[in-house]
Amino acid sequence: MLRRLYHDQPESFAFTPANQTWAEGQISKYPEGRQASAIIPLLWRAQEQEGWLSRPAIEGVCDMLGMAHIRGLEVATFYFMFQLQPVGSVAHLQICGTLSCMICGAEDLIAVCKDKIAEKPHVLSTDGKFSWEEVECLGACSNAPMAQIGKDYYEDLTAARLGEIIDELANGKVPVPGPQNGRYAAEPLSGLTSLTEYDSGKTQYNASAQAAVDLGETVKRIDGTEVPILTPWLDRSDKNAGKKKPAKATAKKPAKSAKPVAKNPDAKAPKTVKAPSKPAVAKAALIESKEKKPRTLSAPRKAGADDLKLISGVGPKLETVLNELGFWHFDQVAKWGTEEITWVDNRLKFKGRIERDDWMAQAKILASGGETEFSKRKKT
Ligand code: FES
Repeated sequence: MLRRLYHDQPESFAFTPANQTWAEGQISKYPEGRQASAIIPLLWRAQEQEGWLSRPAIEGVCDMLGMAHIRGLEVATFYFMFQLQPVGSVAHLQICGTLSCMICGAEDLIAVCKDKIAEKPHVLSTDGKFSWEEVECLGACSNAPMAQIGKDYYEDLTAARLGEIIDELANGKVPVPGPQNGRYAAEPLSGLTSLTEYDSGKTQYNASAQAAVDLGETVKRIDGTEVPILTPWLDRSDKNAGKKKPAKATAKKPAKSAKPVAKNPDAKAPKTVKAPSKPAVAKAALIESKEKKPRTLSAPRKAGADDLKLISGVGPKLETVLNELGFWHFDQVAKWGTEEITWVDNRLKFKGRIERDDWMAQAKILASGGETEFSKRKKT
């Protein structure tokens, strides 16, 4: 199937403040030079925010990750999970049309979509609530035919049941995902033939359906405020309370779309901010952080430079940057205090690394001639 960018693109894209914070947290999970690894979660979050992925969104994410735009376009156009045009405000239905589902009635399901939503895929229903498309195998073949609606699978479908599901969704209800014909999971229709006594810990629905019910996010878009950001290395409150503030995002009016973008009516209207470019983030951080330049050297001492790569978290690239900044020896690093860390941090590409790996403690041991677990491993 051809997957192309939508003909009608908005002028710009910006993450909401919550999503911006979340995105920066995701980026910080990856080591130096590997920020592109965050492309899928960031594109997904952009889609969750807007409902679909526009060109400015893809390019904005690429800019945040220091990637060529074409790389982001390659990812976004490859995966069916990314919607390249506006989708229904309530749900986008993906009907599996591959072998098992086709044999078991996928064409009947597509006929329901054509009848109830729109004659053609990727076209909004007249009320703007639904859209649909045919996709390749979604890996639930033993429960064919099936459809992915929002984030969950509806399996063992019939045309009649799919019609009911669409009606229920239109009325604000979210039918329980999973098998729709009474099956618990993927056991034979006639019932279990093995492990018949195994039912300890059995939940009302199978694990996937139960999780879907518990999370309640089948057709709800996440907006960055409900998911905890698991980046404890960025939490400096314990060590540097009040000494360093994150760069403030600049509030900006929401981007104007050439056409109104379908939004989930349940989602809170987000305040939008322009995603700051990398230089903008660095500049803002420099302005807002209290920093102090540590003592630097123009060259290593006569005995020669220390191997800074013996500090866990310092790779060859970072070592070069540190040398360029004037740091050649363990004892220099060992002396950094909070404000010196901020100075160095502002000049490295990846904030938080110094404290996350506690370079100062490592450097102190190495400067006194000792070894850390990491330096021992590194030397052997
Ligand atoms: S063929 Fe439909 S899920 Fe595999």
